[in-house]
Amino acid sequence: MTASAAPQPLVSRTATALKGTARVPGDKSISHRSLMLGALAVGETEIHGLLEGEDVLRTAAAMRQLGGEAERGADGVWRARGRGIGGLREAPEVLDLGNAGTGTRLLMGLVAPYDFVTFFTGDASLRSRPMARVSEPLSRMGARIVSRAGGRPPLAVIGTGEPMPITYKLPVASAQVKSAILLAGLNTPGITTVIEPEPTRDHTELMLKGFGATLKVEQTTEGRAVSLTGQPEIFGRKIVVPGDPSSAAFPLAAALIVPGSDIRLPNIGLNPHRIGLIETLLEMGADIAIENRREEAGEPVGDLRVRHGALKGVTVPAERAPSMIDEYPILSVVAAFAEGETKMEGLAELRVKESDRLSAMAQGLAACGVKVVEGQDSLTVTGGKAPAGGVRIAVKLDHRIGMSFLVLGMAAKKPVEIDDAEAIGTSFPGFVDLMNGLGGMVTKTNR
Ligand code: S3P
Repeated sequence: MTASAAPQPLVSRTATALKGTARVPGDKSISHRSLMLGALAVGETEIHGLLEGEDVLRTAAAMRQLGGEAERGADGVWRARGRGIGGLREAPEVLDLGNAGTGTRLLMGLVAPYDFVTFFTGDASLRSRPMARVSEPLSRMGARIVSRAGGRPPLAVIGTGEPMPITYKLPVASAQVKSAILLAGLNTPGITTVIEPEPTRDHTELMLKGFGATLKVEQTTEGRAVSLTGQPEIFGRKIVVPGDPSSAAFPLAAALIVPGSDIRLPNIGLNPHRIGLIETLLEMGADIAIENRREEAGEPVGDLRVRHGALKGVTVPAERAPSMIDEYPILSVVAAFAEGETKMEGLAELRVKESDRLSAMAQGLAACGVKVVEGQDSLTVTGGKAPAGGVRIAVKLDHRIGMSFLVLGMAAKKPVEIDDAEAIGTSFPGFVDLMNGLGGMVTKTNR
């Protein structure tokens, strides 16, 4: 988001049972990737169910600046069209990616193997995020990146007309870094290889294959190695974007903590690298049924039925972090309602998300009356009785912090306010209506 109008505070009050069916918006990760590859491929790519959140709309605008086409049809279907690998052109303006770390990092990779310069900026949250993790491998491929201190945007990617393929072992478990390198590898002759010691979401790999690129994935002693053969011909295709499991997590959590709830969330993406939260909640005793499992456009999908019930605390191992990295804020809310201690480990990456989520959750939960211990890279929540609530939380341009505390307010003793709801539109437009449609009590405040 850029500097906006007045803040939009919201308040969430104790709800009675949540009931009904809710359709969550399209997956953010898959939406970004479908626009990027669609606006690069030769011919038309039809995208059904694209997330029309602010982050993804910024990627669509960026692809248009880079010479691709990406438009919403009157039928709600997006159509993208490009000139093939090598067909991007220099953007006439600075690319303003708003709040979107994924959009920024993936696009940095996409433009690195082109003989032109691309400028990137974003909102205050994005401008505080470390990009050196992407700049470093892209520099090895021959691009130069000029940024503010600490690799932070605004930054310029000075692309290279003579990119070199690399083999790169990821120092942090990050699908964004992996994807940036693979997207750079698209316009690089030869084979670009990324080795990930811990597997992360593989939407880029699945989609590249779907577009006809040659990609090899193998298990090595060093980790999962993904090798892409550069400069493939890629052609437009049809993409069906599933509901975002990271967005589904909010109504799902609300149903688990509001007594008497019984809801259905159809058409949710169930990529094995995204379902750590469901796995954890099942261990906590949650009543979640996955029905009608199927595959759509290469991604596993299913319908969820979620019912309220007793929960118990668990230890969430560090190895699970990549498969639920965006879900710790909402898990820590659920943990406040589970009997005993929930310990979440291996959370260092949470400190460099849209905000420092580890401290944002620790401080917010403590303010709500929850017993919580913030470690260097861990969070321990002791739950059991309904939190007091009755506080106002500063969202700090972080959509998931805002939604997490609104969910907490649905089952706390007193209402919970957030100071600004604008960030929620980056990933979950319609969040308030969806929650209220299930029986939530989220409203604007009079302040
Ligand atoms: C994403 C990867 C994750 C995640 C982000 C989306 C992606 O980030 O937090 O919301 O689409 O590749 P990291 O790669 O930094 O872990």
